[in-house]
Amino acid sequence: APTEEDIRAIVAPLASLEGPLLPMLHALQDSYGHVPQVAVPVLADVLNLGRAEVHGVISFYHDFRDAPAGRHVLRICRAEACQSMGSNTLAESTLSKLGIGWHDTTQNGAVTIEPVYCLGLCACAPAAMLDDRVVGRVDDARMDKLLSEAGA
Ligand code: FES
Repeated sequence: APTEEDIRAIVAPLASLEGPLLPMLHALQDSYGHVPQVAVPVLADVLNLGRAEVHGVISFYHDFRDAPAGRHVLRICRAEACQSMGSNTLAESTLSKLGIGWHDTTQNGAVTIEPVYCLGLCACAPAAMLDDRVVGRVDDARMDKLLSEAGA
């Protein structure tokens, strides 16, 4: 696990930027795949912010995660074309099947579910993406197949 010194080494070079918090968070996420808890007090200290403020920014931007993602990431499209083809229902039933919410990871660490806003596959809505593979016309059966493929 990263130490406070590791975090400082990554964020310190960015301190002179204008609006350095987001670049720092991106740099940390690039290094660790998430923003480690130990970074919050370090960022608060370096930027002279409250810990709650730092934490608030991390949770406001869903690009940042505060825990490592699962072994696979399944993105479900929530943009308009997919919504009109039932992606909301698909997403709800998927999340309730797994017993998790958006951005969460299944208990066995297999899959993290993320929303995405258009995968360029509108003609084959509703669309999803498992890791780097896009899949169109996702109905319940196809979703079950994706989930079992991912080991959910
Ligand atoms: Fe879902 Fe374009 S709206 S792929």
